[in-house]
Amino acid sequence: MRKLVFATNNQHKTEEIRAALEGKYEVLNLEDIGCLVDIPETADTFEGNATLKSSYVVKHFHLDCFADDSGLEVEALNNEPGIYSARYAGSRDSLENIQMVLARLEGNPNRKARFKTVISLMLNSQNHIFEGIIEGTIRTALSGSKGFGYDPIFQPAGYEITFAEMDMAEKNKISHRAIALKKMLEFLKGI
Ligand code: IMP
Repeated sequence: MRKLVFATNNQHKTEEIRAALEGKYEVLNLEDIGCLVDIPETADTFEGNATLKSSYVVKHFHLDCFADDSGLEVEALNNEPGIYSARYAGSRDSLENIQMVLARLEGNPNRKARFKTVISLMLNSQNHIFEGIIEGTIRTALSGSKGFGYDPIFQPAGYEITFAEMDMAEKNKISHRAIALKKMLEFLKGI
């Protein structure tokens, strides 16, 4: 069976993709192929960073690969935190990142935001890009304890609850990541 690397160290994400591509691709993650380096994410777009990760694997391991990069874009903050989402306040502390967004938005009536995921799939050295977006708003205070990152302040459009108040199964059906992954899976199933 054809091998496909998912440039991630997240076992949960790997299992999800493995199940979706069962019988068609053997899905391996970075640990499986012995890639122990922290692949540099030095580009200034999600697409650039996803492509840096997927191309690194192609270059060093000669295997087809896909990688994702995600973040939160807040309209009134010129789409920040964007590619800096994981470390917006300086560390990887989600609560500090959230406080930073809330402080910068204080008193601002424009609460529009979106989560975005971009996937770069390198197949036979060709880069295929898939994007997933979910629109929503930023609350004025935290609500809910599920999920991760900015989930407690993000209310997806059409809902009265935040991502952190939503069951994981429901979030995983509508999220930016789910949308981008679905596009890639449809592409892979069609070829
Ligand atoms: P990654 O590229 O998927 O690792 O995401 C980078 C950062 O964006 C994370 O560390 C989070 O701060 C934020 N982020 C991405 N996806 C989500 C989400 O579904 N909920 C909350 N925060 C997210």
